Amino acid sequence: MFLKLVVSICGTLGAYLLYYVLRGVYAELTSPLRLLPGPKSPHWLFGNLKELRDDIASGRDERWFEQYGRTVKLHRLFNRSQVYTIDTKAIHHILSNTPIYQKSGPARFSLGRIVGPGQLTSAFISGVINNVLGVLVVEGDVHKQQRKIMNPAFGAPQIRELTGIFVEKSVQLRDIWATQLATLDIIGLAGFNYQINALGTRSEDTPNELAAAFEALFRTETTFSLLRILQARFPIFRYIPSDKVIRESQATMMRIGGQLLADSKRDIAENGTFDTGRARDLLSLLVRANTSKEIPASQRLSDKDVLAQVPTFLIAGHETTSTAVTWALFALTQNTGAQSRLRAELQSLETENPTMDDLHNLTYLDCVVRETLRVHPPVVATSRVAMCDDVLPLATPFTDKHGIVHETLRIRKGDMAPERWLSPIANSIPGVWGQMLTFLGGPRGCIGYRFSLVEMKALLFSLVRSFEFELAVPIADIGKTSVIVQRPILLSDPKAGNQMPLLVRPAVRS
Ligand code: HEM
Ligand SMILES: *[C@@H]1O[C@H](CO)[C@@H](O)[C@H](O)[C@H]1NC(C)=O
Ligand SMILES: *[C@@H]1O[C@H](CO)[C@@H](O)[C@H](O)[C@H]1NC(C)=O
Ligand SMILES: *[C@@H]1O[C@H](CO)[C@@H](O)[C@H](O)[C@H]1NC(C)=O
Ligand SMILES: *[C@@H]1O[C@H](CO)[C@@H](O)[C@H](O)[C@H]1NC(C)=O
Repeated sequence: MFLKLVVSICGTLGAYLLYYVLRGVYAELTSPLRLLPGPKSPHWLFGNLKELRDDIASGRDERWFEQYGRTVKLHRLFNRSQVYTIDTKAIHHILSNTPIYQKSGPARFSLGRIVGPGQLTSAFISGVINNVLGVLVVEGDVHKQQRKIMNPAFGAPQIRELTGIFVEKSVQLRDIWATQLATLDIIGLAGFNYQINALGTRSEDTPNELAAAFEALFRTETTFSLLRILQARFPIFRYIPSDKVIRESQATMMRIGGQLLADSKRDIAENGTFDTGRARDLLSLLVRANTSKEIPASQRLSDKDVLAQVPTFLIAGHETTSTAVTWALFALTQNTGAQSRLRAELQSLETENPTMDDLHNLTYLDCVVRETLRVHPPVVATSRVAMCDDVLPLATPFTDKHGIVHETLRIRKGDMAPERWLSPIANSIPGVWGQMLTFLGGPRGCIGYRFSLVEMKALLFSLVRSFEFELAVPIADIGKTSVIVQRPILLSDPKAGNQMPLLVRPAVRS
């Protein structure tokens, strides 16, 4: 009986896989992407995925772009073709046509494993993902609705209110480092385990719990797993429960998120909102945005919707920004002249508690932040899948193998199109900030760029004003790994995880 069951399950799976492979072969033979030049596929199953994963930081893809042009064909799972582009016109087209170019099912699944809430697996199977996932993963009308309610919470006036928190937390971090420096002079930066309070983390011990949950998620994501690839590609495999680590980490995030939300609501009720009270954090902002008269009751975010944003904000907000600051410090160790100049500018401000205007008015700090985000973007690439046939306009035409020049590229429903941004970037970039794609662009551009810029500046302000930084290892030892966020590793010890060992000394006041 049992054996029969196993045989029939395996048979079904086998037939399913065979169908998938045959359909893929047929699609490949007729694909308009056939014409597009690109590197050879080294593997029938993994295509170029492994090279891409291992070498994105070392710039192998940049060499591909040099060799084959700004729009190339790569091979993904089962050697299927996909478009890989840095063509600004193509990227503009993809980013502005959000109904056509959406995040693919597998991409949303993988992202959802990190930023999704606990019931993720079953939610993905039953197709109700939109109801339980954060703004980073949802699509279509649900995305529109979430963005509409959340956008005001990320506007300039709101971020101005948050500046006090950024500065307060930066000063705390500085003080912690200052005391640690008595005994320890190397700080292994892998992001900042400080209590940023973006989410209103009020209790002292939650950040460590959150940080631990996080680390666990990232660690499992970096290990190579066939099951995960299968789950991403074939929803049927999602019936196999996700690892214990993932479930526990997500449960932790949800539990803490629930507490934070309850705290925010109580605080607003007891102490009034922003203008009058203490409730100054992102969740409070969302709770307050939810009561706005302009939004009909039927379209408001439920508690569940707001909770679904907690891991999103932690990953999209915290990891990105702390990584950006890590790269900024790294860049400053490589240019000591710039480091001194920045320190002099920061020390010229009398106050330890700058306002948002003070921070934005520091011109050299602004340059350092811009250059860091341009050269070391924390998120380097993204991908979309075409929901219907389309024609992709190209700024740089490509020449096919018959020598024919094409100014556009035909895209078929289901074709994948990753985009990659590189430093030096042209002016025609459709980005939400600074003529770069660091925060992406279009209706799905980063909601938190203002937040992040002020937070980065506040951190750099307190840290560079008070400390001198030097790289504690040879420069050649610094590598990059990219799991959503591109973070530093030591090439001599990649297993040790993300780190950037820095020698930190108290700075002399000039
Ligand atoms: C240096 C810091 C940051 C960088 C480089 C960055 C970059 C990005 C990028 C590239 C995207 C588009 C991802 C994609 O569609 O593939 C994005 C989306 C997003 N970011 Fe950021 N981000 C940063 C900081 C923040 C902060 C501080 C927050 C919130 C507190 C935030 C919240 C979000 C959210 C919610 C989305 C999804 C938007 C949507 O799909 O509608 N980010 N970010
Ligand atoms: C991958 O597919 C291409 C056609 O798109 C084919 O030319 C190539 O031989 C395949 N590579 C492998 C390793 O199967
Ligand atoms: C309201 O504000 C007071 C004083 O700032 C604070 O002690 C109290 O915890 C706040 N209430 C809530 C629910 O956070
Ligand atoms: C948003 O408003 C709705 C309707 O008034 C309410 O049911 C829901 O709990 C609110 N959500 C949050 C997060 O405050
Ligand atoms: C900005 O800095 C300049 C000097 O660099 C100063 O004159 C001006 O008052 C500052 N503005 C603000 C808003 O702080």
